[in-house]
Amino acid sequence: MFIYFLSQKYESLLKKNMKTKEINGILILGASGLIGRYTFDHLKKQGKKVIGTFYKNKNPELIYFDVVKSPINELPIKGLELAIICSAISKIDECKKDVGYSQQVNVENLKRSIYQLSEKNIVPVFISSAAVFDGVLGGYKEDNIRNPINIYGKQKLEVEDFILKNFEKYLIVRIEKVFGIRKGEGLFADWILKYKNKEKIFCADDEVFSPTYVGDVAQGLGKLIEKGMEGVFHITPQNYCNRYELAINFFDYLKIKDARIVKCSLDDFNFLDKRSKNSHLDGSRFIKETGLRFTPLEECYEYIKKQI
Ligand SMILES: NC(=O)c1ccc[n+]([C@@H]2O[C@H](COP(=O)([O-])OP(=O)(O)OC[C@H]3O[C@@H](n4cnc5c(N)ncnc54)[C@H](OP(=O)(O)O)[C@@H]3O)[C@@H](O)[C@H]2O)c1
Repeated sequence: MFIYFLSQKYESLLKKNMKTKEINGILILGASGLIGRYTFDHLKKQGKKVIGTFYKNKNPELIYFDVVKSPINELPIKGLELAIICSAISKIDECKKDVGYSQQVNVENLKRSIYQLSEKNIVPVFISSAAVFDGVLGGYKEDNIRNPINIYGKQKLEVEDFILKNFEKYLIVRIEKVFGIRKGEGLFADWILKYKNKEKIFCADDEVFSPTYVGDVAQGLGKLIEKGMEGVFHITPQNYCNRYELAINFFDYLKIKDARIVKCSLDDFNFLDKRSKNSHLDGSRFIKETGLRFTPLEECYEYIKKQI
């Protein structure tokens, strides 16, 4: 039911403009989250005018915004050119746990906000996910058949379709397993915490993905924007591995011998909603267009060693 054949549409809609573009102002919805936060800092460092929002995680640099209740017109968006949409219920099981609410946040009100922004000529940059694919074969290119297997993926697909159908200018950026290098920032931080608490670290050897450093996602977004790119892109490095291999590699690098890594299957977990076994994306189009060098994992491990 959720199979879509969009190759032709993607091909005709993928437009390129290699000139560097001066952007007047950028709104980041969800700038208090992992990706939004790094992107906000990166764009600010580049000297861009950036306005960001938070929902529950208060931050004096950001403005309160609830996608369900706050009118978009109350944000100081006059004269802005782009809106990076990071606001979401981003946990797969949370979307399934309360489908009604997650649909309101991730789809209905997001579409409304994107539409209202477009009325002010603000171009959407939507952060989507590898979850729009079924995760059977992996290596997904931008124009491959989308066929999500969980509610979260279906919600992402709905917003993608809304944008594809109604907008000429847009960026849809799909990403995979994103991690940061500080406390609380994704899988490595989580593993270190479990190690410190002497907990078992269950890692599926049949779950394949491309771990992506959040700083690279922020830089990648910056590059796409700077180059005035439009269309669909996968910001993802070329290398991929399974979760178990990754954990072994990580703790080996840190020379930690007594981490309690337990090899298992994704099927052993009692998740509320389905998980993809092979979600890795093909990011070659993005790499070709931007020339971004993704940070090698070992470099990230070095930072993590110092920070955590
Ligand atoms: N991280 C990944 O591995 C990954 C992979 C693929 C795709 N993505 C997608 O990338 C985007 C950003 O991900 P992330 O990892 O940065 O997620 P995150 O850390 O969970 O951040 C989500 C953001 O959404 C905001 N938010 C939540 N409910 C909201 C509401 N009702 N109204 C307005 N804002 C609300 C949060 O604000 P508060 O924190 O202030 O409450 C936060 O700023 C999401 O769309 C996610 O689905 C992420």
